[in-house]
Order: sequence, then structure tokens, then C-alpha cells
Amino acid sequence: MNQAAVSLKRRPRSQAQSLSYGSVVDLFCGAGGLSHGFKLEGFDVVAGVDIDEKCRFPFETNNDAPFLPLDVASIDPKELNDRFVPGVPRILVGCAPCQPFSKYSQGREDGRWQLLEHFSRLICEIKPDIVSMENVPRLQKFKDASVFHAFVRALRNNDYFVDWTVAYCPDFGIPQSRSRLVLLASRYGPPGVPTPTHTTERYVTVRQTIGSLKPLTAGEADADDPLHRCSALSSTNVTRMKASKPGGSWRDWDGDLVTDCHRKESGQGYSSVYGRMEWDQPAPTMTTQFFGFGNGRFGHPEQDRAISLREGVDTDVPPDYAFVPEGQRIEMKSVGRLIGNAVPVDLGRAIARRIKDHLEECSK
Ligand SMILES: C[S@@+](CC[C@H](N)C(=O)[O-])C[C@H]1O[C@@H](n2cnc3c(N)ncnc32)[C@H](O)[C@@H]1O
Repeated sequence: MNQAAVSLKRRPRSQAQSLSYGSVVDLFCGAGGLSHGFKLEGFDVVAGVDIDEKCRFPFETNNDAPFLPLDVASIDPKELNDRFVPGVPRILVGCAPCQPFSKYSQGREDGRWQLLEHFSRLICEIKPDIVSMENVPRLQKFKDASVFHAFVRALRNNDYFVDWTVAYCPDFGIPQSRSRLVLLASRYGPPGVPTPTHTTERYVTVRQTIGSLKPLTAGEADADDPLHRCSALSSTNVTRMKASKPGGSWRDWDGDLVTDCHRKESGQGYSSVYGRMEWDQPAPTMTTQFFGFGNGRFGHPEQDRAISLREGVDTDVPPDYAFVPEGQRIEMKSVGRLIGNAVPVDLGRAIARRIKDHLEECSK
């Protein structure tokens, strides 16, 4: 056992502190999906940092922790350090914006990738006991893999043990075919990675997740559930919707329905848009614009409309997760962004469980 693990064992704990496995500060906290996973697994979430003020309500309401409206690029490490609870492991987690690394950036330079370097800088300055970093798998290849390698190297140079994996969400009981790079680092010993809980035959499907929700027509909202509302469709898009198939795309349509951009050579590659979700499969990855039929395979499996915010929420976070204060008008765009950005809560739980097991292994 290394020296750090010994100090974990000897660390005195008060009775109140022993209720928590560790205190968690969440960088780029968004609406708090990742934090919520830690909270449900018994960790003490002590702060979330994000520049988007719209995150304040969902983060604070669902996680009982303060929201700090700060820029990770300029935050004072002391501000974060002071938040950790003394006497329990200090855990710094973060999911920096994924867009700079994702295939949707289409080669355009998005300077936000440097936020990962700020994450790394804060780790080196704060020296938390455990780190969790989550992002899109393509981060590993970005700029010839140099950015990811620099992140790992900085951790190792600061005496962390580092492990990572690509987690496929359906393997963790999440009804969404999202794949995420999950990296864990620990000062106590090799932290390992979350282990899948579901085999292919047990994947949670769209039918199991949204099959019993009230039917809607395009543009309608359910009076009993403010989040069960969907975008309106033009008459041409209603015709396109009717011609769309589960798991299909615009290629299923008659030629006269095809949009000008898909007729062009440059549009031929976009084969996974304007399709419907499939009842007996997990849903596609929820992007920040999942409520638009043309933005992916986000058509309802059989109703002629795009999926509602509720249908997106139910693949991601618990149904009682609050996004806006009761009675407040729902803005599709901003709530859709919070949902699409959120780490699925069950993935957060799987990460938190691995950290819990690791801490227990190290204190034996
Ligand atoms: C992928 S999302 C994080 C999702 C979050 N972990 C969750 O589970 O809900 C990335 C977040 O980074 C935030 N962000 C972008 N630039 C930032 C900056 N300079 N400082 C702090 N937060 C930033 C965005 O507002 C967004 O909420």
C-alpha cells in the first residue's frame, strides 16, 4: 500500500463526516447530472462551477449544493479548496465542454478545448485525493492525441494513479447509446474503471422508457407535465415525418422531399438525421438540440413529431429532476441544452460507485 493510502486509513472522521464517502466539487457542473449520481451514491456534493447562469436552479435544487457562476479559466483554486469538507476524501470531478472534440465540430477550431488544460492546472494546484474526468471518446485522438496525453502526464507527474475506459451507456442500464470517455485518478492507488451492469439482452429500451407517456401531436404540450412538450413542424416536415422510419434517415424519403443540402455531394454523409427512434433499442445520444426532428434520429417511433423534452429527460436523469422553477415558462432551447449536456445520472452513479469501492479497497 502506498503512503497516500496509509493516510486515508489514519484520517480521523467525526460521526457526521462518516455519513459521506467524500466531498465533491464539480467543474463545468451544468444542470448537475454528474453531481446527482455522486449524491445518490452517498457523497457530499459541496459546489458546482459553471459559466451558464441557467444551470443554477437545476444544480442547486437537485443537489442541495451551492452553484458558483465562475469561469474555470480564471477561477482562484483557493475558492474551490475551501469548499472541501475536512477529514474526508476530496474529490474533483469535471466534464469540460465536449463540442471542441466532437465530430460535429467538423474541423472548425473551437478554443474551448483549452478548458481541459485549466482543469489539469486546477488539479495540480488543489491536489484533490480523487479526480474524475469525463468527455467524448474522440478527446483521446484530438490534436494527434497530444491534449489527452498531456492531461494524463500532468496527473502522473503529480503522483496520481490513472485509469480510463470508454463507457457505453446501455452497458450501465442507460437507455441512450452515448459513449463516454471516463478517466479516474487517485492518490491512493490504481482506481480502476466502472464495470458494466447490463448485457445486450438487458439493455433498457425506448419502449420501456417513454412507451407509457401521453401521445402528443407536433407542437403540443401536456397540461399535466410542463416538460412533455414538443416542437411544431411545418407541413412539409409533417409529410417528411410520415415518410420516416425507425432507425432510418432522409434516405427513406421520395426524392422530392429531400432537402437541398442533402441533394448536394457535401450533404450525402449526413445519414443519421431525420429518422425515428426505435422502440426496442436504446435512444440515440441526446444532443443539445434533440427536440428538433432534423437534428438526428429524434422522431418519435410512431407519433408524427419530434420527441418531447420529457422524452429526452427520461433517457438521462430521474423523472423528478427539476430544470426550471415551478410555473416558469419552459424555453425549449435552454432546457434542451441542459438536458443534452447532462451526464446521464446513472453513469455518474457508476463512476461514484467505483470511487466508493476504490476508497474502501484502499482503507483495508
Ligand atoms: C458537458 S457540459 C457539463 C454537464 C454536467 N457535467 C452535467 O452532468 O450536467 C459542459 C458545461 O461547461 C460549461 N462551461 C463552458 N465553458 C465554461 C467555462 N469557461 N467555465 C465554466 N463552465 C464552462 C457549459 O456551460 C456547460 O454547462
